Amino acid sequence: MSNPFTISDFTISDLRRRPEFFDTVAERIWQAWWQESDHPLAYISTRLRENVAATPIPFALVAHDGEKFLGTASVITSDLEERPQLTPWVAAVWVEEDARRRGVGAALVNRAAQDCFALGILRAYLCARPLMSGFYEGLGWIVSERKVGRHQMSVFFREAGSAAGPVSSTP
Ligand SMILES: CC(C)(COP(=O)(O)OP(=O)(O)OC[C@H]1O[C@@H](n2cnc3c(N)ncnc32)[C@H](O)[C@@H]1OP(=O)(O)O)[C@@H](O)C(=O)NCCC(=O)NCCS
Repeated sequence: MSNPFTISDFTISDLRRRPEFFDTVAERIWQAWWQESDHPLAYISTRLRENVAATPIPFALVAHDGEKFLGTASVITSDLEERPQLTPWVAAVWVEEDARRRGVGAALVNRAAQDCFALGILRAYLCARPLMSGFYEGLGWIVSERKVGRHQMSVFFREAGSAAGPVSSTP
């Protein structure tokens, strides 16, 4: 996995290199996507622990300003049960409310894709609710399908060598 690098006033690191952020990342993912469905936090911690295992994928990224947590994104092998043949997926993109709209989310998504491409992967996927389409389209992701599954998700992809969106995480 590539080294952490600084983008203006924040850094994106592989969570494996900054394990002190593990509990915060697990807690935010749980709060944002799992708490309502009555899954315990321990369930997410266990799944996230898989992301810090030695295998290249899955992995998790953390955006931080020194010791201050700003956000996170993961790359996982499977994210949409209706599309089991597609892999890998950028998922669980989260930015702290007081850190939004300064490029952290864009940098996390771009870095996640670039780390996939650095592993030799030619195409990365993500799925999002229609409300979030503008965010990902603005970052250069292409919609391949809409209204997939019970949550009516849009499926996006980005290919190695494609232009990043307007906010690039390349130093
Ligand atoms: C979505 C989220 C990750 C965006 O993070 P962020 O750090 O505020 O995003 P950025 O500042 O990098 O924004 C990059 C661009 O996307 C735009 N953007 C940001 N949030 C957007 C949204 N919800 N819808 C459409 N565009 C959005 C920004 O205006 C910016 O455009 P610009 O470069 O033309 O100014 C953040 O709002 C968040 O954590 N939301 C809650 C969790 C969530 O919904 N995650 C996505 C699940 S699919």
